Amino acid sequence: MNVSDERTASLWASIKVAPETAPLAQDETVDVVVVGSGIAGMSTAYELAIAGQKVAVLDRGKIGSGMTARTTAHLSSVCDDYFSRLADLRGTELARLYYQSHSAAIDRIEAIQDVERIGCDFRRVDGFLFPGAGRPETDLDRELDIGTKLGVTVEKIVGLPFAGFADAPALRYANQATFHPLKYLRGLAAGISARAGLLFSDTVAEKIEETGDGVRVSTSAGFVVSAKWAVVATNSPINDRVVLHTKQAPYRTYAMSFKVGRGVVPDALYWDTEDPYHYLRIHPGKDESDFLIVGGEDHKTGAVDDADDRFTALTAWTKRLVPNVGMETHRWSGQVMETIDHAGFIGRNPGNERVFVATGDSGEGITHGVVASLLIAELILQRKSPWQELYQPSRKTAAAFADYLAENATAIKNFAEYLAPGEIDSIEKLAPGKGAIVREGLAKIAAFRGDDGTLYKRSASCTHMGCQVHWNSLERCWDCTCHGSHFAVDGTALNGPAVSPLAET
Ligand SMILES: Cc1cc2nc3c(=O)[nH]c(=O)nc-3n(C[C@H](O)[C@H](O)[C@H](O)COP(=O)(O)OP(=O)(O)OC[C@H]3O[C@@H](n4cnc5c(N)ncnc54)[C@H](O)[C@@H]3O)c2cc1C
Ligand code: FES
Repeated sequence: MNVSDERTASLWASIKVAPETAPLAQDETVDVVVVGSGIAGMSTAYELAIAGQKVAVLDRGKIGSGMTARTTAHLSSVCDDYFSRLADLRGTELARLYYQSHSAAIDRIEAIQDVERIGCDFRRVDGFLFPGAGRPETDLDRELDIGTKLGVTVEKIVGLPFAGFADAPALRYANQATFHPLKYLRGLAAGISARAGLLFSDTVAEKIEETGDGVRVSTSAGFVVSAKWAVVATNSPINDRVVLHTKQAPYRTYAMSFKVGRGVVPDALYWDTEDPYHYLRIHPGKDESDFLIVGGEDHKTGAVDDADDRFTALTAWTKRLVPNVGMETHRWSGQVMETIDHAGFIGRNPGNERVFVATGDSGEGITHGVVASLLIAELILQRKSPWQELYQPSRKTAAAFADYLAENATAIKNFAEYLAPGEIDSIEKLAPGKGAIVREGLAKIAAFRGDDGTLYKRSASCTHMGCQVHWNSLERCWDCTCHGSHFAVDGTALNGPAVSPLAET
């Protein structure tokens, strides 16, 4: 099980990436074992397989069914936390490398879908940044200024194809792109298998250990994959208990798709300057209509449980821009990891020699995952990458320390919740289809009553580091505010860093 067992499903989720795969059923020895089969894991396995390495990919769910199945797949080289902020924290040279690395990721996707003949609706499009409600035009001027300094192909324009935006200022970024993420992963899976790579679904990696000249990945079924190198691409790392998790924070984010007449919104990426920002793109439909995909309304994971309000706000935002948008087809949510200094963590896991990690995807996790594949493949093949310093997982960033403390205050606040009363005073009051935290003596219980009346009771203590989980009524799962674990109503871990289920009570 993994996040595909949460309740909502994206516009893409009907595509099965590698339906023929089975769980690991014997010990294996390979060159590189990759844990996680999202964009980061599959892209890394592909790069190493074409370089002649024997790879094995393990996933606790079906192949490609993690957060990559919930993306909206803007392929952008523009820092979504703003180049100006990134340059303030890390300097202009590293900001330039950020742009170059994400541009290289888009180029790499374009090349792979071409050479592997992957029909994944890849298109080069422009990206447009425009002022959100109440935001000043100077936000754009600041980004134009820094973008120009960094060598970004950007210009200021007037007018966007939305209601009331004929005179609106915007920035146009060239050479952005978009695609169908799961059709692309399906092509990567075929490319890995064609080079004798092994893919194992429904296989939970429990432990990753260095053994001197190699690594061992032990699975919950008792089988072991031995390799020279391991890559942990589980979105939120399952191997690192503290170091990386105190430098990033999980955010729930929401997306919807609507039918829209062909040509009503020209094919491009659009995003505004609100905080959190909204974004929009087109995906080609089969008939004379397209899909309009919108997203945003993010909040810190577990901080609130008001998905209906988020979707209402997203719908209102969409209808303001595109009044003649058609019927809604899908609504879903997912999670992204925001780092303290706006760049992800890619490279050697702190304290390890042979274990690599890719995390801190932010809203640009697709290109970030592909950057990870290029960088980690270089390191495993004993070469250097110009992006090592930018994404170094062990880095400390003094200038971001205030934000770092603010994010980690969540963990302190969360532990205080154990002292508070339960959300309802008795489990008997739990209605069918509802979940709540209930106090039983000194313990806090995560209780859920199924639609058929079945009662599920598990400890409310997250098995990563013990924060109290929060009920997510949209996805019908338990979310951990501290570092982003999700659990099913029967306690099964669905998303890292947790691996073990919530304890029985
Ligand atoms: C709604 C939404 C919209 C987004 N929009 C964009 C966008 O427009 N552009 C963009 O670039 N990014 C976007 N993102 C971010 C991007 O989609 C993600 O960051 C990216 O897909 C993450 O890829 P990944 O490979 O790191 O993780 P995943 O796709 O989550 O893959 C990790 C895999 O690891 C597996 N796993 C976890 N634990 C274990 C274990 N113990 N053993 C074995 N396997 C395990 C999981 O089952 C999962 O399949 C969006 C995200 C969301 C949720
Ligand atoms: S995810 Fe770390 S304590 Fe829950």
